[in-house]
Amino acid sequence: MAFEEKIKELLDKRSLAKQGGGDKRIAKQHEQGKFTARERIALLLDEGSFEEFDMFVTHRCVNFDMQKQSFLGDGVVTGYGTIEGRLVYVFAQDFTVFGGSLSETMALKICKLMDQAMKVGAPVIGLNDSGGARIQEGSNALAGYSEIFERNILASGVVPQISAIFGPCAGGAVYSPALTDFIFMSKENSYMFLTGPKVVKTVTGEDVTVDKLGGAMVHATKSGVAHFVGETEEETIQKIRELVGYIPSNNFEEAPYVATEDPIDRLEDTLNSIIPENPNQAYDVKDVITAIVDDGKFFEVHEHFAANLVVGFARMGGMSIGLVANQPKVMAGVLDCNSSRKGARFVRFCDAFNIPIVTLVDVPGFLPGTGQEYNGVIVHGAKMLYAFGEATVPKVTVTLRKSYGGAHIVMSCKQLRSDINYAWPTAQIAVMGASGATEVLHGRAIKEITDPEEQAAFIAKKEQEYNDQFANPYNAAKYGYIDDVIEPRNTRFRVIRALQALSTKKDSLPIKKHCNLPL
Ligand code: HXC
Repeated sequence: MAFEEKIKELLDKRSLAKQGGGDKRIAKQHEQGKFTARERIALLLDEGSFEEFDMFVTHRCVNFDMQKQSFLGDGVVTGYGTIEGRLVYVFAQDFTVFGGSLSETMALKICKLMDQAMKVGAPVIGLNDSGGARIQEGSNALAGYSEIFERNILASGVVPQISAIFGPCAGGAVYSPALTDFIFMSKENSYMFLTGPKVVKTVTGEDVTVDKLGGAMVHATKSGVAHFVGETEEETIQKIRELVGYIPSNNFEEAPYVATEDPIDRLEDTLNSIIPENPNQAYDVKDVITAIVDDGKFFEVHEHFAANLVVGFARMGGMSIGLVANQPKVMAGVLDCNSSRKGARFVRFCDAFNIPIVTLVDVPGFLPGTGQEYNGVIVHGAKMLYAFGEATVPKVTVTLRKSYGGAHIVMSCKQLRSDINYAWPTAQIAVMGASGATEVLHGRAIKEITDPEEQAAFIAKKEQEYNDQFANPYNAAKYGYIDDVIEPRNTRFRVIRALQALSTKKDSLPIKKHCNLPL
């Protein structure tokens, strides 16, 4: 074959591979409002940065005459490229080839990419759109999934792993995303479930739509499986790019420093009056967050799930930080099963990837009741406790108002190896609130007073005594549990100074095979 013909052969093969499952199937994908695998990669990566691997791989299955249907690339596009100039590895399942279902060779392609990402220390981003295991391949498809899962497990805590769901994601297809650090879903055409509606109907008799079973908002609000939801595929992909900006490429690196014009000593006067006079009145902790972080930019994780706790990324003085804050606006900011799971997972991500944690505390306690106890609030709360106590990254805590009981301890108290604990003058650090404490300590005396007015006066007096003792930060500061009481408007400066001082912090854990946190 002449030289030019060889070049032509290459170009023809490339162009064939780029057609995936063919024009008809691409048109169907577009009709459903979905992008193709290659279009998604183009949206994700810096323009022209994508380098593709394994474009000429084809499946090896001969069951059911499968050898007669073969597509170059076999159902997944893999390679590397950059986001804001930083290296990432990416795979995008191609629904136009056998519904993006996973074959033995697809798994090999994905595993090759993950192995390389691990060697060079770069994030892995998976764009999923798949009907699950390729049925025709039987155990080879299952083995393929298992190979991927094992790599997800080994890569966990070494390189960030990010999954986006852009289509049906059924059966085995959900477990690789579930093993990764963050799951993005798009409100359009994005579903995750172990078994689809037909199987649900057969086994349990329940009638349910795909949306209700595993749509984006179901996983964002009810199950907590999805960390981020975009209105469209495009918006979802933009959110992935934004997330990558806050995190390091691997566990040996720091997150990128992003210079800011926002002065580190900016005073925020509104914070001096943000806490309402009435301790039972709510305010929005996100107003505190946006007031203290660089340029007011907060990238919230799990926005729609367990909103009584707010977690997410921001920068302070150019440094990337993870923020954990009770939200008084939702259920008075109590901790419960879901918020504990959410907080623990986030804290552990930050700790694994060297991201300092800033904790803002205003928590009346754990939510009581059978609903919580039967759901294992003890074990879920312990996860959060474990996560904060285990974390060795710089930890700065600011108590804004209430910090009661077990929830006080869980929210990165001094004894959980938190480095710097500040409190606002409005802080109240105690075993419980005044009314609960008065009831416990003076219950008998209260019952003995028959006149209601007298009884109310007695309760008010006892509550006042209790508040005089504990409704302030000085009782805790007296023992050094609080390092300093700070003026709220100066919080940004004090926290940034603390983070700067802690930037060379070294702390460790005892040698062990791995921890056994209460899962
Ligand atoms: C082989 C598959 C496939 C699969 C879809 N296709 N899923 N081929 N194996 N798992 C093919 C279809 O035959 C079709 O081929 C093309 O992909 C597009 O599929 P459609 O059904 O036409 O598309 P749509 O109507 O959009 O429905 C998508 C779907 C549905 C909801 C994903 O295809 C579906 O229910 N698939 C099966 C899902 C599933 O149960 N998977 C197995 C899970 S078990 P043509 O040639 O017609 O275009 C599993 C075990 C792993 O994954 C466990 C590991 C822990």
